[in-house]
Amino acid sequence: MSRFHIIEHPLIAHKMSVLRDKETKTPLFRQTLREVAYLMTFAVTQHLDMVAVRIETPLEVADCHQLKAPNPCLVSILRAGNGLTEALLNILPEASVGHLGMARNDETLKPEKYYTKLPNDISARQVILADPMLATAGSTIAAIDILRDHGVKDIVFMCLLAAPEGGERLRKAHPDVPIFTAALDRQLNEKGYILPGLGDAGDRIYGT
Ligand code: PRP
Ligand code: URA
Repeated sequence: MSRFHIIEHPLIAHKMSVLRDKETKTPLFRQTLREVAYLMTFAVTQHLDMVAVRIETPLEVADCHQLKAPNPCLVSILRAGNGLTEALLNILPEASVGHLGMARNDETLKPEKYYTKLPNDISARQVILADPMLATAGSTIAAIDILRDHGVKDIVFMCLLAAPEGGERLRKAHPDVPIFTAALDRQLNEKGYILPGLGDAGDRIYGT
């Protein structure tokens, strides 16, 4: 799986153990997910386009670099994706934010689309698509299909946990989209849940 990046770091590994623990309650889960997202940001944003600028410091002119306009767009796959995008937005406040509502049908495991709101000029922006879970990859593939339909060329996908089955499916459907994950798990169970996993990310973030 080229373009598949597992972000290895002692702090991420530690915090993932907290997220996986069934005893971790919603407030700590949400806080820890935010912290993992912060730690992943460095890798996930490494490719962002820059422009050279000259800035006057209080002492002299300095040659600097800034994010190229239009600034990147964070796209959240609702609802669990909001946990990641809200964290990224703290570090990247210049970003615009798009939302794609997808609910996975418990029986068919297919994503059902219920909401789309994207910036009008999204085709000109670099997109960071976020969802904590890449299970069958149905939701992620459907989200990328929508972004492609809107003319988006540059997309990276960020998650916390990926299943090998979903990683492979996503790679086949969209080979040009890099995948950044905090961990690659063993397999899916018969209900499409990631093993060992962390359970239902949306339920654990929002206490439902
Ligand atoms: C979860 C998760 C992903 C999707 C992953 O969302 O956040 O969006 O399932 O599964 P897949 O790779 O098999 O498509 P869910 O549909 O449960 O919605 P929620 O975020 O509202 O909880
Ligand atoms: N969605 C989740 O939230 N968790 C899984 O393990 C699979 C899909």
